Amino acid sequence: MFNRFRQPDIDLDELKIVPNLLLSSPHELRLPLTWIGILYGRIRAELAATSGVHGPEDVIKLLLVGADVTMLCSTLLRNGISHLRLIEGGVQEWMEEHEYESVHEMQGSLSQIRCSDPETFERAQYTRAVKGLQHVVMTGGEAWRVLNGE
Ligand SMILES: Cc1cc2nc3c(=O)[nH]c(=O)nc-3n(C[C@H](O)[C@H](O)[C@H](O)COP(=O)(O)O)c2cc1C
Repeated sequence: MFNRFRQPDIDLDELKIVPNLLLSSPHELRLPLTWIGILYGRIRAELAATSGVHGPEDVIKLLLVGADVTMLCSTLLRNGISHLRLIEGGVQEWMEEHEYESVHEMQGSLSQIRCSDPETFERAQYTRAVKGLQHVVMTGGEAWRVLNGE
């Protein structure tokens, strides 16, 4: 979850469909994060995460919501194969800091089924999220006025 679908573009001069492979960005992690979190413990299948895994924190998050494995491609094209060492080291460091002895211990501990606030995975949370966003926008606006002496 989820392989990225092919998304060709249109060349407006040639009027034809052209391949346009874009590398992923970290925010794409949210889709597999949400659905693996929801499905963990509810279906009898192992869950493999892909899309938007760029650093150790992404691997950690996916394991916490219940991924069995995480996969990556774009970041290796950008940073080279040695980036894997950085990711592995970052995950190990985090596990030591948080006193996890095994990946198995982490797996699914923040999934919806185990989460103390399961609603955070669902659509009902949109209103609350948007209200939070408005607060950020207003706070940003206030900061702008202060900066500009208004
Ligand atoms: C250069 C490149 C080639 C890819 N080739 C394939 C492919 O042949 N088959 C496939 O199912 N997915 C392919 N993918 C998609 C990846 O398997 C993966 O789903 C996607 O890149 C998302 O992960 P990422 O965020 O780590 O890039 C390719 C991705 C890239 C960037």
